[in-house]
Amino acid sequence: IPVLSLDKAYSAEAVLDFFSKSIDKEGGALTFAAEEKIDGISMVLYYEDGVLARAVTRGNGLVGNDVTANIQTMPDVPLSLPKPVTLAVRGEVYIDKRDFERLNAMEDDESKRAANPRNLAAGAVRRQKSSEAKLVPLHMWCYEGFWKDSGETPPDHLAILSELKALGFHINPRLAFFDSSRERAEGKLLSAGLEGRAYAFSGIGDYLGYKAEERPGLDYEIDGLVFKIDELDVREDFGYTEHHPRWAIAYKFESPQAETTLLGITAQVGRTGRITPVAEIAPTKLAGTTIRRATLHNQEYIDELELAIGDTISISRRGDVIPAVEAVIDKNGLGNTTYRLPGECPCCHGKVSHVGAHLYCLNHDCPDQVVDRISFFASRTQMDIETLGPKTVKLFYDNGIYRSVEDIYTTDYTALPEMDGIGEKTVSLLIKGVEESKKQPFDVLLSSLGVAEIGKKGAKVLADGGYDSFAKLLKASDEEDVEGLVRIPGIGEVTARSIITAFRDERLRRTLEVLREAGLPMEAVKEDEGETLPQVFSGQVWCVTGSFENFNPRSKAMKEVEDRGGRTVSSVTGKTTHLLAGKGAGSKLAKAESLGVTVVTENEFLVLLQGKTSGAGAPGQLTLF
Ligand code: IVH
Repeated sequence: IPVLSLDKAYSAEAVLDFFSKSIDKEGGALTFAAEEKIDGISMVLYYEDGVLARAVTRGNGLVGNDVTANIQTMPDVPLSLPKPVTLAVRGEVYIDKRDFERLNAMEDDESKRAANPRNLAAGAVRRQKSSEAKLVPLHMWCYEGFWKDSGETPPDHLAILSELKALGFHINPRLAFFDSSRERAEGKLLSAGLEGRAYAFSGIGDYLGYKAEERPGLDYEIDGLVFKIDELDVREDFGYTEHHPRWAIAYKFESPQAETTLLGITAQVGRTGRITPVAEIAPTKLAGTTIRRATLHNQEYIDELELAIGDTISISRRGDVIPAVEAVIDKNGLGNTTYRLPGECPCCHGKVSHVGAHLYCLNHDCPDQVVDRISFFASRTQMDIETLGPKTVKLFYDNGIYRSVEDIYTTDYTALPEMDGIGEKTVSLLIKGVEESKKQPFDVLLSSLGVAEIGKKGAKVLADGGYDSFAKLLKASDEEDVEGLVRIPGIGEVTARSIITAFRDERLRRTLEVLREAGLPMEAVKEDEGETLPQVFSGQVWCVTGSFENFNPRSKAMKEVEDRGGRTVSSVTGKTTHLLAGKGAGSKLAKAESLGVTVVTENEFLVLLQGKTSGAGAPGQLTLF
């Protein structure tokens, strides 16, 4: 099992976002454990039939150093377990702050002193002689367990911690648990027999504040907190990226900060006309990457900082990708005063207007606006046109080829003038990319047009809510049908008005006309039109548990359900209608039985997939094995 790192968050909002996105993705209730992120050495202990076989460091994530002899000397690490289990246990080896100070002070040679407790612990773990390692009082908190026999794996994270504790491992008692209410969270901790603090999701700010206060008084160093989904089957479903699990996030107490000089400020005009000041800074390293620019949001933000060109500033990365200017550390000695955004558009020199805290360029044909609009349309998350990135769009604009999104589809790419960086290969990729983009669904096209308030989610909500063609949206706009639009859950009055205004614009109407001629989708494809399988599970909610002969991994069974109109969830609740129970089904089977959920065996499932068709029936289309 690769030893990965964790995705990071630097604010309560980012942690809450992780909670809510996970719950959204799961489509059902979830709970989260929170643990201290120990600033130590990551260690994996392997036990075979209850005996410590190997202790291995993280290394490159796949292959680590065997440090068994040293780890065997640690009182916190059991050499044998009360049960003959075969498992891997992950945890963090660390040294107390006080022991670190004491040992470091004993080292006369200053150059040999460790910079921090983690370095000292790392040195001790890697000692050649275990008799020397033994002299360093190392500790270990364990926080994950992987049983070889999945039948022995406890049902959730709290149960794992509880079982590890019973097996003799040291479990950090400074644990917290998050559920929809504090009482529920408390109940979970109690039934697992674990110490810990209980919170409702909304208590995240309190918890982070409490930990920040508690941190300096702890015996050991922590550099953050780790939030983990408690439900193991959900962990399995969410899986991993190359770098981190999708079921956990590390909240870091300090966001990475760096000091640098403000060289200048440029004002950028975005696709909506909004003018955003951007700090041009002396290149500086921050959390592994070199930063040259940072956002300044708007004039108000600059005024609050009293920011002037030449000032020494601190920049940070608060979990988001775009770094921000945090504070002025030293004023410039050049006599520069607080920067003011220009009173005209920095690009087209046209009129500007204030809307709230932001400044907007009013010229729809402003070059920066046009380039950004087209770039947005073509971007990866929108129409996803290969090779049509912002640089190419700008080049095409500068050469008079692009003036509006429809030009993407009317340009003859075989007859382009000579331009730097646009060779035969780029052209053929571009033609292919443009052609491919015509297959994007209606809602993606709708969200790519840059209508204010209509992002990807809004477009989908509209399409699902019956506004599934441009014709219908144009009609709603002509008839000023606010009422009809706000009847869709998720569409408010602001969005409705924005749609009405946008679709009255002659330019947008022209664009749509050209896009239609080019073959882009003017309406949503009805979901069942493309369906080949009978929707026999429509309206049903299935949970899948245990292991199967024909569906391995079990996500294959889930796909069969979804392809036939059913919804899948990873835990059994009152809303679950069916449980597909394979071999080794445990707590979920018991729960399903107690709730009266229909339990289906693998063989019965196979019959359901082939039989009971609504109409013609197409067993030949089964994609089972
Ligand atoms: S869970 C799949 N829990 O932080 C990753 N990690 O930055 C599961 N760490 O490599 C990791 N305390 O060495 C987890 N309570 C805790 C932790 C913890 C410290 C370390 C661990 C990991 C690193 C990620």
